[in-house]
Amino acid sequence: MNALLGELTRFSVMAKTPCWRLLAFLVLMATRAQASKNTEKCKLVHESNSERKVLSFLEPLTNQTFTAHTKEGEDEYTYMFQVCGDADGVKDAGMVQRDQNGKHVLIGNYSLTQAVRGSDWVMLIYLGGEKYHGHCSQEQRRAIIMISCDRTKAAGQLSVVLEDRERVTNCFYLFELDSSAVCPIIESKLSTGSILLIAGFSFLAVYLIIGFLYQRLVVGAKGVEQFPNYGFWSEIGNLSADGCDFVCRSRGSREEPPTYRGVPAEPIEEPEERDDHLLPM
Ligand SMILES: *[C@@H]1O[C@H](CO)[C@@H](O)[C@H](O)[C@H]1NC(C)=O
Ligand SMILES: *[C@@H]1O[C@H](CO)[C@@H](O)[C@H](O)[C@H]1NC(C)=O
Repeated sequence: MNALLGELTRFSVMAKTPCWRLLAFLVLMATRAQASKNTEKCKLVHESNSERKVLSFLEPLTNQTFTAHTKEGEDEYTYMFQVCGDADGVKDAGMVQRDQNGKHVLIGNYSLTQAVRGSDWVMLIYLGGEKYHGHCSQEQRRAIIMISCDRTKAAGQLSVVLEDRERVTNCFYLFELDSSAVCPIIESKLSTGSILLIAGFSFLAVYLIIGFLYQRLVVGAKGVEQFPNYGFWSEIGNLSADGCDFVCRSRGSREEPPTYRGVPAEPIEEPEERDDHLLPM
């Protein structure tokens, strides 16, 4: 028992550093989980929680530029797209078009965003682009980016579907992009049993960590005393050891009846002798 106590004390001394490292790690994970909020740079035309939630699906696609090239006769264009960021460094430009001379035309402003989500796609709309000169009643350009689920890629290639400007109003540029970011979340296939098991282990872990910290920092315990409810658990341990001893230990009852081996049975005298003095005289 003393050896075991020594071992446990040594373990807790050794564990002192990893304990703080573990804490630091947990804090880091917690901050990292909420660090990325790039989609908040987008301003919605009509602010709403549901549309915000749709935008948040696109978080993995932020902070990177997608490009697509088109060629119509002599004219070559490069389209650059960012989710809630300045494409090609042009301020407010979620979608920008650059011609072969490097001239920029703003197609969509991410401060005028709309977002719609279906079962496996998100449609992102940037309004407030540069005005058309001779088409579309000289309204402002708009970009529609159709992002479709593809579980095989984090982000695919941006492609230009069409520029529809032969209309009186509501002209638009349509783009497509494949990404796993907009895929529906696959239902968890865990059985009730494993969920219970995981919940149990998580509870145990939280109990141990909080109890350990409480004992250590508030109560100021040292060594094995740092285990939460140490007295209670060691009592339980002792009791179960006793119970085990009682149930499992086979010494004493192992001797088989002598008749089994074919040895002539001899009456066992001892108990009778022992009992003798108990009889009332
Ligand atoms: C965006 O990416 C650049 C490099 O690719 C990185 O230095 C920067 O920290 C990133 N910003 C955010 C907000 O993720
Ligand atoms: C983008 O839209 C915002 C909000 O309407 C506006 O303040 C800003 O000037 C626009 N940016 C450009 C480059 O048009």
